[in-house]
Amino acid sequence: MAQKRLEGKVAIITGAASGIGEATARLFASHGATVVIADIQDELGTAVAASIGEDKCSYVHCDVTNEGQVESAVRYAVSKHGRLDIMYSNAGILLLSPSILDLDLSDFDKVMSVNVRGAAAALKHAGRAMIAAGIRGSIICTASVGATQAGYGPAGYVTSKHAVLGLVRAAAADLGRYGIRVNCVSPFGVATPMSCAIAGMTPEVMEQMISSSCNLKNVVLKANHVASAALFLASDESEVISGHNLVIDGGNTVVNCASLQAIEQAINGA
Ligand SMILES: NC(=O)c1ccc[n+]([C@@H]2O[C@H](COP(=O)([O-])OP(=O)(O)OC[C@H]3O[C@@H](n4cnc5c(N)ncnc54)[C@H](O)[C@@H]3O)[C@@H](O)[C@H]2O)c1
Repeated sequence: MAQKRLEGKVAIITGAASGIGEATARLFASHGATVVIADIQDELGTAVAASIGEDKCSYVHCDVTNEGQVESAVRYAVSKHGRLDIMYSNAGILLLSPSILDLDLSDFDKVMSVNVRGAAAALKHAGRAMIAAGIRGSIICTASVGATQAGYGPAGYVTSKHAVLGLVRAAAADLGRYGIRVNCVSPFGVATPMSCAIAGMTPEVMEQMISSSCNLKNVVLKANHVASAALFLASDESEVISGHNLVIDGGNTVVNCASLQAIEQAINGA
């Protein structure tokens, strides 16, 4: 590897026992960060941490819906490693609901509790720890293309991701005076345990489905692409970037793909 971009930094990543969080834990550690995985899948999280290496990564049980557990995870990182430079609030869930007309409000509450309340707790306690130690840290959240457009998931999920974007902007305003940056990454579809389980598809079929609806062709969006975007936001290369929504979607949220296809078909006489 040419240059380690997170040398000496300590990071917590929530929801890093699988999917995008796991890929990011591996990438951050390979760039010199000491990583704490905070998740509820204890066996998986412990195995991922062990496979990264005991000297570079550890696992802590943390249900982000429980503020006390988020605070403890931050305390664990600071007492074990002496500092906290990066908080990547990535844990999220999506519960299926066919339409707003059939919205199950207890499912809605669950999604809001993990995706929004969990991110708020992570921002709060990471921000406090960084301020207490005088660290100009970086906080990143995983939002989604559903943070700015509907049609990428059920109402509860889309609502929660719009709220994550609002939270990121509000926190960027509150924490800027301390030199702490707050940004989010917004992926389009990635074949992960979550998305595959929801769609009932294998990763291969899922990737085919995602690629066929993506504006950018000849490339398949993978968890590593999201991890690379998070790496940029975590590193000093982005030291003046705050309040930003880094969209990783091959242009889908700025190109009207359905309209483009209809125009092309009309021109080609299809
Ligand atoms: N996969 C996609 O297509 C996609 C697209 C856009 C955004 N996202 C977002 O990316 C993030 C990661 O999702 P993923 O696709 O990697 O799914 P995933 O299921 O592989 O990973 C999510 C992780 O979050 C953990 N988690 C769930 N509830 C938790 C809780 N209460 N406390 C702590 N950890 C908890 C899970 O155990 C899991 O390890 C989510 O915020 C998701 O909304 C995913």
